[in-house]
Amino acid sequence: MKNRCLIDIKDFSKEEIDDLIKVANDIIAHRDKYSHKCDGKILATLFFEPSTRTRLSFESAMLRLGGKVLGFSESSSSSTSKGETLGDTIRVVGGYSDIIAMRHPKEGAPTVALKKTIVPIINAGDGGHNHPTQTLTDLFTIYREKKSFDNLTIGLCGDLKFGRTVHSLITAMMRYKNIKFVLISPKELKLPDYMKEILDEKKIKYVETTNIEEHMNQLDILYMTRVQRERFFNEEDYLRLKDYYILTKKKLKNAKDNLIIMHPLPRVTEIAQEVDDDKRAKYFEQAYNGVYIRMALILKLLEVK
Ligand code: CP
Repeated sequence: MKNRCLIDIKDFSKEEIDDLIKVANDIIAHRDKYSHKCDGKILATLFFEPSTRTRLSFESAMLRLGGKVLGFSESSSSSTSKGETLGDTIRVVGGYSDIIAMRHPKEGAPTVALKKTIVPIINAGDGGHNHPTQTLTDLFTIYREKKSFDNLTIGLCGDLKFGRTVHSLITAMMRYKNIKFVLISPKELKLPDYMKEILDEKKIKYVETTNIEEHMNQLDILYMTRVQRERFFNEEDYLRLKDYYILTKKKLKNAKDNLIIMHPLPRVTEIAQEVDDDKRAKYFEQAYNGVYIRMALILKLLEVK
């Protein structure tokens, strides 16, 4: 029988996300209890695009559960470089492992992959489309800081066009009550129309602005993002837009005391290092949280009690 996969954050209900958060919190409180839960299991990490956090936190998660890991971190070191199709790679690796986390530059690649194996497939980022496990990390961080997902004004700043973490986070957060989005981007990097149509259909409040300070005093969350150089068609456009937003202490002067500043990382120049000391900066905690929520996800997909 085909196992459960995570391709899009909508694959999990709000209740299932609550359960994952409960398990992740329990793992933090009682680490030893989980250290042999995946004895004998193998996670494959197939990364056709670069990664630090997602790949290594998945590997750390499986190792901390007592399992083992195998995989590759760039397509040039796999037989993709000899012309092997994604389908064939997945079909073979499905026989070497119990669960696969994959990142691929092509949007929709994980949907192709899941048809080729019975082992659970986890989308660890597909092009500029989705990044659901980053969203689980983001939701876990929001819950730990705010204790609720309702009644939040969320500023999303930077590359809202190509930023897959933004697309997945909006998709997740629009399911909660009284959510408002402040979409802060240069005109060239606005949220895609198809996403705004969904917000309109669901009557979710949002405003678009190019000015990071305009709504700063209303925000409960400020989610900064990097301009996604790898998705640009020409370097000139990237160079023109890459430093459009640089969050500094001065720009935070009207922000709430209980604002949380998030970023999926890697950061380039969009958050000045002076902000790292601000108690509201949560992006490194966010990266640490990724291990525990991914441990909870692996347990769920492998149906480990
Ligand atoms: N946040 C994130 O996906 O980081 P990596 O690209 O380093 O995995």
